[in-house]
Formats: sequence, C-alpha cells, structure tokens
Amino acid sequence: MKFITVKSYEELSNKAADIIAAQVIVKPNCVLGLATGSSPVGAYKRLIEDNKNGKIDFSAVTTVNLDEYVGLDGSNDQSYRYFMNDNLFNHINIDKAKTFVPSGLAADLKAEGEAYDEMIKDFGGIDLQLLGIGVDGHIGFNEPDKYFTAATHEVKLDESTIKANARFFNNEDEVPKTAITMGMMSIMQAKKVLLVANGANKKEIVEKAFFGPIDPMVPASILQLHPDLTVIFSEN
Ligand code: F6R
Repeated sequence: MKFITVKSYEELSNKAADIIAAQVIVKPNCVLGLATGSSPVGAYKRLIEDNKNGKIDFSAVTTVNLDEYVGLDGSNDQSYRYFMNDNLFNHINIDKAKTFVPSGLAADLKAEGEAYDEMIKDFGGIDLQLLGIGVDGHIGFNEPDKYFTAATHEVKLDESTIKANARFFNNEDEVPKTAITMGMMSIMQAKKVLLVANGANKKEIVEKAFFGPIDPMVPASILQLHPDLTVIFSEN
C-alpha cells in the first residue's frame, strides 16, 4: 500500500487527478471505476480542465460507477447517475453510452447486480478503481457487516450513512434507505485502487481501515489485501 498524506483538499485532488490522467494516457481505452460523493469532486474538476486543455482524451474510456440509490431515476438530481453527468461526463469528451451506473430502478436488483458484474468481467475488469470512504468504513455502499459481500447487491444503508448523505437532500427523510452497490469482488479485482479521503472526521476510520485488522465491520480494511492500493489522505 502507498499511503500519501497531503496538506489540503486541493493537493489531494491534484494527486488523484494525476493518477487517473496517467491511467487514461497509458491506456486510452481503459475501464475506470468511479465514485460519487464530495471526495472525488476536486479531482473530477481537474480532469475536466485537463480534457479541455487537450491533455487527456476520454473518447475511448469506459466507466463503471460503484453505486446508485434504489428508486431514483437518472433524471433525479439526487441520483448518482445525475451526479456523474453533472460533475464529470457532461463536461468531457466521453461517449455517454460507455458510462455505466447500476440501475436503482431494476425490478429485480439481484439480476441487475449479476448483470453488472458480468458486464465488468466482459470489459476485462476495471483498470483503475477510484473510491471514497464513509465514516463507518464503507466503500461503495458496502456497509459494515459480519461478512464481506462479493457480488453487486442491494444494501440497506446504515443510519450513519443516511445522516452523512442527508446534506445533499432537503432533509434526512428524503434519503433513500436502500441502494445497489458494486461488491468487493469487482472492486478487489481492479488492477489498481485509488482511495481518497479528506476531513478530520475521516481520520479515525482511515487509521482503522488501513492500519488495523482486516474486519468486515470496517469494510475498507479489505483493501489491505489489494496488491496495488494508493490511499491519499488530507486532514483538511
Ligand atoms: C460514492 C460512494 C461512497 C462515498 C463515501 C464517502 O459513490 O460509493 O462510498 O465514497 O460515502 O462520501 P464523501 O466523499 O461524500 O465523504
């Protein structure tokens, strides 16, 4: 594991963007695993600039996102599909048909999960997976549990996740209670994993996840088993 501590969110975003840009430059038709939430927004902004300046070309890139709320359509501004379009895809030269987010509207979420994993396998897996981390240690929406779950699956969100994500909604009651998330298999099979975490409120969980025991109650701790993991942390 490469654990990099930086002094600001800007530095974190630039370092993360450098790594993602390098991946796209060395393999223009790569598969990027992407995350939503506040943590990657700065890196996405830098990548938009890089694309506008002609430094990186997303035309051959495929993306697979980690998760989506159950019941939210992509046109809903709280959905993760909307977030990705708004924070990245609408501003770069990516072919939207090659951007994938699991569907939270699927009637059969188990089948949707299986199809999503199969699709990732057919792409040849993920070249670089970008992750954030929840205060409860979740990655994607893999919440603390007795066991790690391998497949893309439906999940009941933890109280702490609902509370943390309420800032994006009018109130806590509006936060969906369930989501569909990529499981540990597709994440751990990614060739490279890059996790970004910022804020004093993430310090304790980052220490537990990367310097404590591997424990399904701290889902991100499984990443200690990944052969090519970079963590970038900024307390500010
Ligand atoms: C988002 C996701 C989540 C977030 C995590 C941190 O697609 O999968 O695991 O990365 O909740 O969220 P922020 O960055 O908003 O603190």
